Amino acid sequence: MIRCKSSWILLSFFLLWSFSSVAQTPGKPVDAEGHQWWQHAVFYEIYPRSFADSNNDGVGDLNGIASKLDYLKDLGVDAIWITPCFPSPQVDFGYDVSDYENIDPMYGTLDDFDALAGAAKKRNIRIILDFVVNHTSDQHKWFIDSRTSRTTEHRDWYIWRDGKGQGPPNNWTSTFGGSAWKLDPATSQYYYHYFYPEQPDLNWRNPAVENAMFDVTRWWYKRGVSGFRLDAVDTLFEDPNLKDNPELPGKTALGDPKQERKFNSKLPEVHDALRGLRKVADEYNGVLIGETWTSDIAELNLYYGKGNNELQLPMDFLFTTVNKLSPADFRKQIAAVDSASGWPTFVISNHDIVRAYDRYGDGQNNDQIAKLMAGLYLTLRGTPIMYYGEEIGMKTTPPLRKEDVKDPVGRIGWPKEKGRDGERTPMQWDSSDNGGFSKAAPWLPVPATAKTHNVADELKDPDSILNFYRKLLKLRRTNRALLDGSYSPINENDQYVLSYLRVYKD
Ligand code: GLC
Repeated sequence: MIRCKSSWILLSFFLLWSFSSVAQTPGKPVDAEGHQWWQHAVFYEIYPRSFADSNNDGVGDLNGIASKLDYLKDLGVDAIWITPCFPSPQVDFGYDVSDYENIDPMYGTLDDFDALAGAAKKRNIRIILDFVVNHTSDQHKWFIDSRTSRTTEHRDWYIWRDGKGQGPPNNWTSTFGGSAWKLDPATSQYYYHYFYPEQPDLNWRNPAVENAMFDVTRWWYKRGVSGFRLDAVDTLFEDPNLKDNPELPGKTALGDPKQERKFNSKLPEVHDALRGLRKVADEYNGVLIGETWTSDIAELNLYYGKGNNELQLPMDFLFTTVNKLSPADFRKQIAAVDSASGWPTFVISNHDIVRAYDRYGDGQNNDQIAKLMAGLYLTLRGTPIMYYGEEIGMKTTPPLRKEDVKDPVGRIGWPKEKGRDGERTPMQWDSSDNGGFSKAAPWLPVPATAKTHNVADELKDPDSILNFYRKLLKLRRTNRALLDGSYSPINENDQYVLSYLRVYKD
């Protein structure tokens, strides 16, 4: 009897153990080292408004993306991250989601999404969606209900507070300018928005919010997506006592007093939410990429989580803060991320920052420098995330006049802050009108450089940036040292030359 009981205990222990290891077990390794697909993959960020316009309304769409899958395959891309294509009033161009489980008609339909996913799968290209976890649109049904009364079902899905005296509950400012609180006349309380007022923050302390958001990811995994890029994860939680942030000297480009975001950014609770999202991801062998603006490697390590139970790919933005072609600065940053507790993720450009082409270009040798940067970050140990147009040397082209600015932050901050239109201009497919992006006038003008930097012409030129990327990505795909090898710097004191070995076994 006693023996029987103990074997039951042993058996249940074994079952529990094997169940939890199944839940945590990553998918099939792609090599003898046990690497997962996302460790060998090349990711490519697509800003759908600007990639390819299939219906000629001036805005890109999902069918447009589908029409370019062969181009992407040929380039050497394994996964595309599509920035938000869900229904949205487009105040922040999709980062204000009004329905997480649909496609904005501007981009197509769910059927178009399924067709895109099917066509991508045929080519072994995975789809990563952008999950805006911190906030919804003020037009989301949850918020529409939330603002109706102080006791309604979704009231506590957002952050509502009474004001202090005649003003907002505290001194927190929005990263897009002004107070982070907006008084809502219907209930005479303020709601909190880290970004635009049209992007109210979700209350992640409410388990109902957490569950609803986890379910959104399940819904898309079941539809065939391979993971998510998690938007603005630093900002998921706020101090429940709403302590004022410490003020810093000076003003921001938007004219607000600078402050240390001590009480509304990077709170430890963020990691509970990420562990929860990761558990769901593991049910589907999904990958989580994070928009993680860390200030050092210790912070980056927190995002990998203990035993790597949070994000598989927190982006190393410290790499993008190396502002000049300084071997010493890059060497330092590469060594730092190489020593991190998880797999490195390199990015040089995206839809929020000046393109690498301009960050490092000297105005004379920009194309050579663009190749140099590709040669650097595509040969490091880690996963690269490319940004559309980087492979042809697209240039950041900010608007020249305030009246042409589309990104609201550029209108608020003009002329100091011109917004992010410059890095979001339409993809340059050929030298025809509108760069082959659309037959109609595009939502942002096509830069004049489309005449010299475009896919069609660069494909024909063996020395083009595009052909450099294609060759390099081909090499990367088959070269064990580039895929799996270690990184060792070999000239640590040379101030002009950055060189390193990638060593695989012997
Ligand atoms: C992220 C996005 C950015 C957006 C913001 C608010 O930083 O990358 O484009 O404006 O979140 O969602």
